[in-house]
Amino acid sequence: MKIVLIVAHDPNLVIGNEGGLPWHYSEDLKFFKKETMGHPIVMGRIVFEELNEKPLPGRENIVLSRTKSFEHVKTFKSIEEALDNLRGHEKVFIIGGGEIYKQTLDMADELIVTQIKVEYSGDTFFPEYQDKIGTVWREYWREEHSAFDFVKLKKV
Ligand SMILES: NC(=O)c1ccc[n+]([C@@H]2O[C@H](COP(=O)([O-])OP(=O)(O)OC[C@H]3O[C@@H](n4cnc5c(N)ncnc54)[C@H](OP(=O)(O)O)[C@@H]3O)[C@@H](O)[C@H]2O)c1
Repeated sequence: MKIVLIVAHDPNLVIGNEGGLPWHYSEDLKFFKKETMGHPIVMGRIVFEELNEKPLPGRENIVLSRTKSFEHVKTFKSIEEALDNLRGHEKVFIIGGGEIYKQTLDMADELIVTQIKVEYSGDTFFPEYQDKIGTVWREYWREEHSAFDFVKLKKV
């Protein structure tokens, strides 16, 4: 089973502010949908609450929380338990937020990143990975747009 982290970050690795996304790029939302459709998505409790506790359609939604459980989605108290439950799937997407990315970067096989070119203020960050491009990570695909690039990296 391939573990893929999918994220959008600014040049300083900002991913969120006050519990939400600091930006709105509809092209990025479309890209996210296209990449994740049909595959399980794993998210932290804060992200799920940000979605108003409504699962994203067409994908098995898995929520991580040590304190809460929700109707209509499976909730797990650990990442290991969640991934065990998904065994057999070809690919699983980790869709954030900050706490979950930090704990899963080392186990990821692939990163799908929207590299936003403008700087935003934020309070939540993606962990540093760009210093390991060429050693741990290899970029194998990039699509350039004016406001951001879509980039795919594989673990070497
Ligand atoms: N730019 C992007 O691509 C992107 C993507 C996703 C999110 N975001 C942003 O990121 C921010 C949210 O991130 P966040 O770090 O605050 O929260 P988060 O990662 O979404 O959720 C954190 C919560 O997940 C649960 N959790 C964490 N580790 C766990 C583990 N090992 N096992 C079980 N449960 C675990 C805990 O819930 P309990 O407290 O209930 O135990 C914890 O409070 C928002 O601003 C959001 O907009 C950005």
